[in-house]
Parts: sequence; structure tokens; C-alpha cells
Amino acid sequence: MTKKIILIIAAAILLPAGLFAQDKAAIMKDMKAQEEALVSIQKGLLYSSKAGVADGVKALKEANKVAALKEGLVNYLPENKKALYKTALKEGELVNKYADEMLKKLDKGSYGEAYAAYGKVLNSCNTCHVYIRGWK
Ligand code: HEC
Repeated sequence: MTKKIILIIAAAILLPAGLFAQDKAAIMKDMKAQEEALVSIQKGLLYSSKAGVADGVKALKEANKVAALKEGLVNYLPENKKALYKTALKEGELVNKYADEMLKKLDKGSYGEAYAAYGKVLNSCNTCHVYIRGWK
């Protein structure tokens, strides 16, 4: 009887930990996809290919699922960083916003401003990563 209770308690503790591990693997996959999308965007910018940049932005937004985690993101933060999760989420949303800005500037034929928006996208990646440093 006691053994059963211990097993149930152990399962209750281990199950959420297992779910979080799966979420983390999904995040890493999406992050890698974002990294690859940035490579395509940069190539599009360097070769002055609006279509290339547009394809890259589409892929970036599809991979940027971390923003969609909303409240779930808090589970990944270390105890002393949990209070920062809303700021981290905001950066995820800014990635999409600046990617749109980049496309708009390209439509206007303003490459300088498009490059600046690309820099803002990178800055949002970095800002969130700074918050989560020490996470692993
Ligand atoms: C909302 C916060 C957030 C934003 C914004 C964000 N990331 Fe991440 N990033 C994470 C998390 C969380 C991890 C996983 C950290 C861990 O546990 O190793 C991660 C990890 C990564 C990794 C793997 C790093 C490693 O050490 O293996 C790459 C690559 C990456 N992100 C790329 C990007 C790119 C590119 C962008 C912007 C387009 C971006 N990320 C924006 C939260 C974010």
C-alpha cells in the first residue's frame, strides 16, 4: 500500500518534468528554424532579392512559436528569472513586428532601413537570450 502511494507521488512529480522536457525540445527545434530563416533573410538582403527576404520572413514567423507559448514560457525560467518572462515574451512578439517592418522598407526600396530592421530582429533574439542565460 505504502509502495503504491510512493509510486503515485513519484509519477505526479515526474510527469510534469517529462512534459517540460518535451516542450524544451520543441523550442530548440523552432529556435534552429529561426536561425536558418535569418540566414535566408540575410542572403536575400545581400543579394537584393526581395522574394528571398519575403520567403525568409515567412519561415521566421512560422518558426517563432515561442511567442505563442504565452504563460507556458514561465515553466522554463529559473526561479530567479520567472518575473522576467513577460519581457521575454514581448521580445518574441517584437521579432515578428520588426520582420514586417523590414519587408515594408524593402517594398519602399529603402535597403538601408531594411538592414536596420534586420538589426532590430537580431537585437530581439539577443535580448531574450540575455534574460534566459543560465537557463540550461
Ligand atoms: C522569447 C524568448 C526568445 C526569443 C525572442 C528568441 N529566443 Fe532563441 N532561445 C530561447 C530559449 C528559451 C532557448 C532555449 C534555451 C535553452 O534552454 O537552452 C533559445 C535558444 C536558441 C538557440 C540555441 C542556442 C543554444 O545555446 O543551443 C538558437 C540558435 C536561437 N535560440 C535562435 C534564436 C533566434 C534566431 C531568435 C530571433 C529570431 C531567437 N532565438 C529569439 C528564447 C528566445
